[in-house]
Amino acid sequence: MKISTDIEAAIARLKAGQLVAIPTETVYGLAGDATNDRAVANIFSTKHRPDFNPLIVHVPSSEQAKQLVVWNDDAEAFARVFWPGALTFILPRATNCPISLLASAGLDTLAIRNPAHPLTLQLLVRSSLPLAAPSANKSGRVSPTKAQHVASEFVYDDIMILDGGDCKMGLESTVVDLTTDTPLVLRPGVITLEQLQEILPQTKMAKAGGDIKSPGMLEKHYAPTIPLRMNALQAEEGEALLGFGRAEQAVLNLSEKGDLQEAAANLFAHMRALDKPEYKAIAVMPIPNEGVGVAINDRLKRAAQG
Ligand code: TXA
Ligand code: MG
Repeated sequence: MKISTDIEAAIARLKAGQLVAIPTETVYGLAGDATNDRAVANIFSTKHRPDFNPLIVHVPSSEQAKQLVVWNDDAEAFARVFWPGALTFILPRATNCPISLLASAGLDTLAIRNPAHPLTLQLLVRSSLPLAAPSANKSGRVSPTKAQHVASEFVYDDIMILDGGDCKMGLESTVVDLTTDTPLVLRPGVITLEQLQEILPQTKMAKAGGDIKSPGMLEKHYAPTIPLRMNALQAEEGEALLGFGRAEQAVLNLSEKGDLQEAAANLFAHMRALDKPEYKAIAVMPIPNEGVGVAINDRLKRAAQG
């Protein structure tokens, strides 16, 4: 494990089939050459990720995406507005798609995203490699939003961390299935349902427990090592209160002014900071279930299950 800003070293490692943790505007990803079976297998084993849970492939542009998947009008409409950005498309794999089948985990679709971080865009362009990259945390744990978070997850692993500073959005991309008649949000994220409906009004949220087509959504996820309790109005004995809005008792606050974007950006870093043996649990104050609050509550619900 090594933190660095050396983009040439990162390219050399990726070309050799080795792993590099990359910064994106959402969270850090654990990246490998998506066309190299060995590299993709290495991502699964380093993360301890179950092999039925497919990976997102990162590309530098829509043009590159079109080489890998069967593009359609919905993809074009969303890409024009939201790419590069925090929106992942599920589309059919193109015939002769060069991406490792392992990345699709046996599905005939591929998750694809054009991320917005300048350093990673440079890496994608200069390496000419599509990069498979799940969030750079051990499976089931809290996603990393700082290079140091990644370092603490992979202390004993052979990875390089490309330091691109703190992730601006702090929460994963929205995953939208574009293989059906109407776009279906499989994972809520920083781009909200309302924003998507402004472009394609027929876009819907997948029903919980219903049409789960994102295998990763079934897992225990985002779990700190101590319990987490939602909708807490105050901390009980021994708990650390994670505030939202005005909260005198809070140890940390997601957003004192009650701003949901700011709360999303702080969520994972604050969860990590409060994940200490000196606390019995993390008690999180209520987050309004609107806009990006839907994604925040989705992550908190999963963390609370862990
Ligand atoms: O913001 C993000 O999306 C970050 C950065 C690094 O890009 N990546 C990320 O990857 O969150 P990961 O692996 O932690 O989450 C990917 C999600 C999982 O829920 C997975 O099941 C789903 O996308 N997914 C991947 N390929 C899929 C496919 N072909 N069909 C349906 N769901 C898919
Ligand atoms: Mg993840």
